[in-house]
Amino acid sequence: MSESQVWTDVDDHFTTLLAPADETLAAALRDSDAAGLPPINVAPNQGKLLRLLAEIQGARRILEIGTLGGYSTIWLGRALPADGRLVTLEYDPRHAEVARGNLARAGLAELAEVRVGPALESLPKLTDENPEPFDFVFIDADKVNNAHYLDWAVRLTRPGSVIVLDNVVRGGAVTDATSTDPSVRGTRAALELIASHPRLDGTAVQTVGSKGYDGFALARVHA
Ligand code: SAH
Ligand code: DHB
Ligand code: MG
Repeated sequence: MSESQVWTDVDDHFTTLLAPADETLAAALRDSDAAGLPPINVAPNQGKLLRLLAEIQGARRILEIGTLGGYSTIWLGRALPADGRLVTLEYDPRHAEVARGNLARAGLAELAEVRVGPALESLPKLTDENPEPFDFVFIDADKVNNAHYLDWAVRLTRPGSVIVLDNVVRGGAVTDATSTDPSVRGTRAALELIASHPRLDGTAVQTVGSKGYDGFALARVHA
C-alpha cells in the first residue's frame, strides 16, 4: 500500500468515527461537484477541527477568505450562536452561487453572507463598514495574496482573535526560498509576517491525510 493510501485510509477511519457526513454536508459536496467546482474543500476531519477551534474560541463573528462551495463555511457556521455572523469572501460568482444554495440548505442563510469579488477589494470595503471585530478568521483563497490577507485579518480582528491559514506546506515546497511559484512565495511571505508582526504570535503544523501532505498555520492576535 502506498504511503498516501495509508493517510487516506486513516483519514477515512477518523472521519467515519468523529466527523461523519450528515445529509447537509454530503449534499454540499454533491452540488459543488455537480456544478464543476474543484474538490479542494477541507477534509471532513479538518472541517471538524475548524468548528471545534471556533467553538473553543467562543467565536461570535467569523471571517472566511475563499468560500468555494461553502463546505468549510458550513462547518464554521455551525460553531456560531444564533445571533452570530459569518462573512465569507469569494472571487468566482459561480462558486458563490453554489455556496449560497449550500448555506441555505444548512440553515445558515441568515448568519452567513457570501460577498463576491476579489478579496483584496472586499476587505477594504468591509473595513470601511467598521464592523465589530472578527473573533476567528480562516484564510483559504489564492495563496499568492496570503500575506495581504493576513494583514487585513489583523486589522479586522481584536486582541485574542484566532487566524488559521490553510495549505502552508504544499508537499514541502514551502522550504524553497528560491521558488518562483507565486503560491509558495505568498505563503512564505505570510509565515514571515506571522514571525515578524508585532501583533501576531503563531505556529505552523504539517499534516498528512486525504488531501496529501500539507499543513496549516495558526496565529493569535494580541494587543
Ligand atoms: N474554504 C473552501 C475552499 C476554498 S478554495 C473549503 O474548504 O470548502 C479557494 C477559493 O478561493 C476558490 O473558490 C477560489 O475561487 C477563491 N479565490 C481565488 N482567488 C480569490 C480572490 N482573489 N478573492 C477571493 N476568493 C478567491
Ligand atoms: C488547493 C487549494 C486549497 O485551498 C486546498 O486546500 C488544496 C488545494 C489548490 O488550489 O490546488
Ligand atoms: Mg485550502
